[in-house]
Amino acid sequence: MTKLNILAFSGSLRAHSYNTGLIRAAAQLAGDQMQITLVDISSFPLYNQDMESHFPAELTQLKQQIREADGILFATPEFNRSIPGGLKNMLDWTSRPYGDNPWAGKPVATMGAGGLVGTALAQYHLKQILLYLDARIMGQPEFYVSGTKEKFDEQGNLTDEKTTEKIVKLLTHLRTFIES
Ligand SMILES: Cc1cc2nc3c(=O)[nH]c(=O)nc-3n(C[C@H](O)[C@H](O)[C@H](O)COP(=O)(O)O)c2cc1C
Repeated sequence: MTKLNILAFSGSLRAHSYNTGLIRAAAQLAGDQMQITLVDISSFPLYNQDMESHFPAELTQLKQQIREADGILFATPEFNRSIPGGLKNMLDWTSRPYGDNPWAGKPVATMGAGGLVGTALAQYHLKQILLYLDARIMGQPEFYVSGTKEKFDEQGNLTDEKTTEKIVKLLTHLRTFIES
């Protein structure tokens, strides 16, 4: 079985983030099936169209990584019923310049942890953006985690068995989705 190359993004910049914890757990659970690589989005400049003529090298590199990936995995918190600004900033940068879009046709799965609704609204906003960017969005299984204090330790490591099983299921579906 070929090892799939999955690029992962966490919407949280917090050191002990539950969402980054979900990505860490997924990377461990993927075993020999997938190489899941977390991208650090925290140091990208704020998007400014004036900078496009001197496109930041790290974002040109990220666009290439997205192109080369077999699939993408997002874990996002919900901020004010949407996605955090850092994630939107990354999506805005990588969608530019117009016509040079690495997201087109890219298989994408989303998950999220936090709040009472388990990031449902944030993930729908994320999917809305990704749909516009012409990504191939995996609709099922949906993946929402609430009650985070009981499911992660203080370092943001996942400790909950049921959520672990949900990740395994999501990764299995993602593999099938990529290969279909
Ligand atoms: C600026 C801000 C806005 C937030 N807005 C929401 C929200 O709209 N809905 C929600 O369920 N939780 C909201 N929260 C709570 C986050 O879901 C919670 O802090 C979550 O644990 C953050 O994810 P992380 O652990 O990966 O950093 C908000 C938190 C912050 C800091």
